[in-house]
Amino acid sequence: MKKTLIIVTHPDINHSVINKRWLHELEKFPEKFHIHQLHKIYPNQQFDIAAEQKLVEEHDHIIFQFPYYWYYAPALLKKWLDEVLTHGWAYGSASGFKFRGKKVALAISLGLKEEHLQRGTPLKFNIKDLTTPYEALFDWIKADYQPLFAYYGMTFEPSEEWIERSVPLYLDYLNRFNSEK
Ligand SMILES: Cc1cc2nc3c(=O)[nH]c(=O)nc-3n(C[C@H](O)[C@H](O)[C@H](O)COP(=O)(O)O)c2cc1C
Repeated sequence: MKKTLIIVTHPDINHSVINKRWLHELEKFPEKFHIHQLHKIYPNQQFDIAAEQKLVEEHDHIIFQFPYYWYYAPALLKKWLDEVLTHGWAYGSASGFKFRGKKVALAISLGLKEEHLQRGTPLKFNIKDLTTPYEALFDWIKADYQPLFAYYGMTFEPSEEWIERSVPLYLDYLNRFNSEK
């Protein structure tokens, strides 16, 4: 089985509750998951673009794991997308489209509860609506964008039980994601 690349963006993983818990679990399966923590590898936030592109080229299954910040992502992930998805590599020429056919998905934790993220609530949008920019981006670069994994309610003093409940759900999701061609 080929490894799934998990690109993790969290600006303060030491104080994270759920992303840290997920990483602790994923680290038990190094044969399945290649964990790539952007803030850890690039404390100065200056990417080695060639190395990042090579890493993507080496994997057919790629997850972007992060806490949901201001309806998008922590800033370093946006910087990664802006700088790594270059013209001629990710899109824009016959030799490009290096994401072509790769399975890609988001795995995100959210502060809000699931019932808050629905059309018709004060928020107006559901998570599928809100993640449309990712879908548009990955369609543009011809990746095979898959339904996301989302886990909610993190700003409402989640119980230990709520955190632990997420772990098998996330692992099941990743195992299914990894086994699909
Ligand atoms: C700068 C910032 C922006 C945030 N924006 C959102 C948001 O737009 N929607 C939401 O549901 N939660 C939002 N949150 C809550 C985080 O998603 C939540 O704290 C995180 O998923 C918890 O993960 P962690 O325990 O790994 O840090 C935000 C938190 C921060 C610090």
